[in-house]
Amino acid sequence: MDLSQELLSRLDSLRKELAGLSAAEGLRRLSQAFEGSIAFSSSLGIEDQLLTHHIFEQDLPIRVFTLDTGRLFNESYTLLHKTNNHYGKKIEVYFPKHEAVEQLVNEKGPMSFYNSIDDRKQCCYIRKVEPLNRALQGVQVWVTGIRAEQSGARQELQLLEWDEAHQLIKYNPLLDYTLEQVKAEVKTLHIPYNPLHDKGFVSIGCAPCTRAIAEGEDFRAGRWWWEDNSKKECGLHAR
Ligand code: ADX
Ligand code: SF4
Repeated sequence: MDLSQELLSRLDSLRKELAGLSAAEGLRRLSQAFEGSIAFSSSLGIEDQLLTHHIFEQDLPIRVFTLDTGRLFNESYTLLHKTNNHYGKKIEVYFPKHEAVEQLVNEKGPMSFYNSIDDRKQCCYIRKVEPLNRALQGVQVWVTGIRAEQSGARQELQLLEWDEAHQLIKYNPLLDYTLEQVKAEVKTLHIPYNPLHDKGFVSIGCAPCTRAIAEGEDFRAGRWWWEDNSKKECGLHAR
């Protein structure tokens, strides 16, 4: 059996093992079972800050990394700095390949993502997807902060998923959390978070591609708002 088949065959028993556990307990259990090959990708959004807290506070052997696209909000960089100081740990940072960014910007300008969906996806590929693929090398379990409430497509996900694109197990410990639950826990545990969340920003990505949403608007309405709803994924979570 190759590694992918072996991982896939463990999925059912892992699902049983994690059933009913809290996010903190689930992370602990999986970090023991996959020590050295489990990693968490943090966008520094509020959900991810909660998971970073559980990982760093329990000193779990889970790599925590973020993809710095070079186009993040200043508030996100400040939060990265603050989070590292708060826990006395370092979130690993992955950058895009500089040659690819230079070529993109020199050919299409610094705002190419507004031209078309293809141009937007090209930018996301260079600045996020390729670095993610590098960050996930050798990883068997990829932890994310995805919640089902965030979009129609995400409602179909499970706590533990097989990620065909990356040939690994994807763990979404906050899948069934509401935004209110996440916010309440972040407050109770005094976890640092991005102040943009208090200004109407729900999902925070790159500055030119994220805006605040009005009350009652869809969670994803603040991301790539000029595009048709069904296309609004950046390719990190291709299914
Ligand atoms: S995206 O696909 O629209 O960009 P979203 O912002 O909802 O994703 O975040 C979902 C999950 O994707 C996060 O919880 C995190 O695990 C991962 N993610 C998104 N952006 C980044 C990033 N810049 N760095 C690391 N992980 C990220
Ligand atoms: Fe580029 Fe916008 Fe995608 Fe960021 S979210 S990588 S700026 S297209």
